[in-house]
Amino acid sequence: MPFGASLMQKALDAAWPYQVLTFPNPAVGAVVSNDAGEILGIGAHHKAGLPHAEVLALKEAYLALTHDKRIEALSDSMALHLFLKENHQDLFLNLSLHVTLEPCNHFGKTPPCSSLIEALGIKRVVIGSFDESANAKGGGVYLQSRGVNVSFGCLKEACDTLLTPFTCKEKQEPFIFFKLALSANNVATGGMITSLDSRTMVHRLRDCCDLMVIGGNTVRVDRPTLDARLCEGKAPDILIYSHSPQFDKSIPLFHIPNRKVFVDSTLESIKSYSMVMIEGGAGMLKAMEDKVEWYLIFQSTHEKEGEAIALPKGLKKVFSQAVGEDTMSWYQRVW
Ligand SMILES: NC(=O)c1ccc[n+]([C@@H]2O[C@H](COP(=O)([O-])OP(=O)(O)OC[C@H]3O[C@@H](n4cnc5c(N)ncnc54)[C@H](OP(=O)(O)O)[C@@H]3O)[C@@H](O)[C@H]2O)c1
Repeated sequence: MPFGASLMQKALDAAWPYQVLTFPNPAVGAVVSNDAGEILGIGAHHKAGLPHAEVLALKEAYLALTHDKRIEALSDSMALHLFLKENHQDLFLNLSLHVTLEPCNHFGKTPPCSSLIEALGIKRVVIGSFDESANAKGGGVYLQSRGVNVSFGCLKEACDTLLTPFTCKEKQEPFIFFKLALSANNVATGGMITSLDSRTMVHRLRDCCDLMVIGGNTVRVDRPTLDARLCEGKAPDILIYSHSPQFDKSIPLFHIPNRKVFVDSTLESIKSYSMVMIEGGAGMLKAMEDKVEWYLIFQSTHEKEGEAIALPKGLKKVFSQAVGEDTMSWYQRVW
């Protein structure tokens, strides 16, 4: 892989663990390097309202260059911007920044990254995807106009893939993914399958979703709660996909405050949501086969008794990471 592309790949690898968790913001990764290609800082955006990837990569680079531990105590985006602008000592002049998405160019919940990059005098900015959003776009062109060497389109396809939920939001379409827990031998039934780490991650994902879709039979068999209690997050609305409107209302999912539960034999209402997680067993997987492009699979290292589930054909692994003792992998279906 060419030099620049391998740095962008590092930025992608930093961003993927936060896919969905940053919503309604995009998942973004950034890498600061010197002329020799040595990495001085890597950052990823973690959650909407928290510092952007560029700022965290610059924070790490500042620490590596200065050993000035004062910056370690700063976590607020505005505080980091101000600190770096005041204390950079021209240390960034010969450095490069690789970032999966064009740096933002506006005041949102955080100050514009473009103005920070300009203030630090970064020599070169390499961008993966264009930011097409009405609010934030234009950071690359702004930096070019200030004399920064800016290039676009490095690993563009992979960066655009990372950006998919955000692109869907901009088009006012829902981002839909099927979440599945599997044993080491691909069994999806029989109670709890994955570790507490994985289940906590699922609750963090639920907290960022506005709708969960669940198969009718799973509701009858598992009698689930489907909230986000393991991270003290908010519970998404629930669509029970079923041929029958009758469900036992003592099932816990009907008793979570501040969310809507509805039963429907169509999936029409999904269109009015923006981040949708589907859960279910073999029947739901089959029913969604031709409708869902994205799959998030948590796989345990332990085997379980039961029949292995048939996964949809054409799943291409996009990213994989350890979550405690399990593995969490994003797959895109290629038809
Ligand atoms: N490992 C995991 O990640 C995971 C997650 C969830 C569940 N599970 C397990 O999976 C098992 C249940 O799996 P399952 O496949 O039997 O049930 P399911 O996941 O609930 O999916 C099948 C159900 O979806 C509904 N459905 C399917 N096609 C439909 C259509 N065209 N229109 C309307 N509704 C439709 C039906 O509900 P009605 O019958 O109500 O009409 C059907 O029973 C349980 O053991 C559960 O523990 C595993």
